[in-house]
Amino acid sequence: MTDSSAPIARGPVVEPRWSDLRMATSGRLAHAWDTEDLRRIARRRLPRLIFDYVDGGGENEITLNRNVTAFDRIGFRPRTVAEIDGRTQSVSFFGRGSAAPFGIGPMGGLGFLWPDADIIAARLAAKAGIPHVLASGASNSIEQVAAAAPEARRWFQLYVFRDPGLNRRLLERAAAAGCEALVVTTDTQINAKRTRDFRNGFELPMRFTPRTVYDFARRPRWLWKVARRHSSSAMGNMMSEIGPNPTAAKAVEFFRTERSRSVGWEELKILRDLWKRPMLIKGIVTAEETAGAVALGADGVVVSNHGGRNLDGTVATIDALPEVVAAASGRLTVLLDSGVRKGSDVVKALALGARCCLIGRPVAFALAAAGEAGVEHVLAMIHDEIDRVQGLLGITRMDQLDPSFVRLDAHP
Ligand SMILES: Cc1cc2nc3c(=O)[nH]c(=O)nc-3n(C[C@H](O)[C@H](O)[C@H](O)COP(=O)(O)O)c2cc1C
Repeated sequence: MTDSSAPIARGPVVEPRWSDLRMATSGRLAHAWDTEDLRRIARRRLPRLIFDYVDGGGENEITLNRNVTAFDRIGFRPRTVAEIDGRTQSVSFFGRGSAAPFGIGPMGGLGFLWPDADIIAARLAAKAGIPHVLASGASNSIEQVAAAAPEARRWFQLYVFRDPGLNRRLLERAAAAGCEALVVTTDTQINAKRTRDFRNGFELPMRFTPRTVYDFARRPRWLWKVARRHSSSAMGNMMSEIGPNPTAAKAVEFFRTERSRSVGWEELKILRDLWKRPMLIKGIVTAEETAGAVALGADGVVVSNHGGRNLDGTVATIDALPEVVAAASGRLTVLLDSGVRKGSDVVKALALGARCCLIGRPVAFALAAAGEAGVEHVLAMIHDEIDRVQGLLGITRMDQLDPSFVRLDAHP
């Protein structure tokens, strides 16, 4: 099917385009030194209920926080006497190079943060030479993103729908638009209890209550820049699926009611047979389901708990990674997301066997902070952090990393 078990390519497999990417030196981004700074800017610029929709997690947000703190428990074991000139971050998976070992993960609803957010994210991913995953529930459609960023390494994320015809059509659209991989998310079959959303009255389609109207009114800049734009509330991929006179509200309702409540290996097998390019299952945190993905003939898995947005109490993904890598035993390409906030997190995941990390909220906050400039800033920032960590660890290539570079539970 694909060369998903191929080793990380040595040397620069793609022409790194990082020289084109710059961290901002002026304006509101000039003092955003880490992703937490971007989160703070986003909080100041967004209505509370929109910020909380992005920032929040399931129930008590135990997993949300655990994802982040679990990285901090891992200690590095650097090699300080080493040749570190000529560092490259290039990695390779599914037969193509990526200029860095991270990509932009799928996120629905980014149009609430910035107009044409998905197009911006894909364009910047292309400029950086890294993958971009478009969500089923994205604000911009597969076709819009393909037209605006044809050169991007575009992947498509699918939530499985009850109607097999709809699943098939979405796969056909993704293939026709040149998406190179399919990411099927399996951890979101029913909506989690997101306490912040309940408190704030956040619902889709959006309901206008005195509270939400007050919340919006406190952010006139956001109202002017984002809310009045059609793309803010659109679900681009659904619009052409809902018959005549589509509206954003109808599209959201359709998305909500048509999602399949349960997904079994049989449904995944149907998708596997339909999709001839690389296919990944997103939401895997156990050896058992990794074995299932191997048996299915998947090409990869994304070790993910949806950024702690769903089943609260799920293990942190960095803690789950070793068992998934062991169960995959070279037969799957293993990616990881959830809680990745800095370059050193990416390097820790690679040392433990991930090929690449997907970034979620930091990109969303960067969009909310400054749109295109924000995304450029955060991608350049994480790239710069990885470069420094590489140098300080004493390595020049990502394929030099192995578990001997970290100590698990170094700091319980
Ligand atoms: C606002 C938002 C929307 C998301 N929408 C989707 C989605 O539509 N499909 C999906 O597979 N994952 C979705 N996710 C989960 C992300 O793909 C990813 O798993 C998660 O954000 C990673 O964790 P992090 O935010 O800590 O980086 C969403 C995450 C956020 C923050």
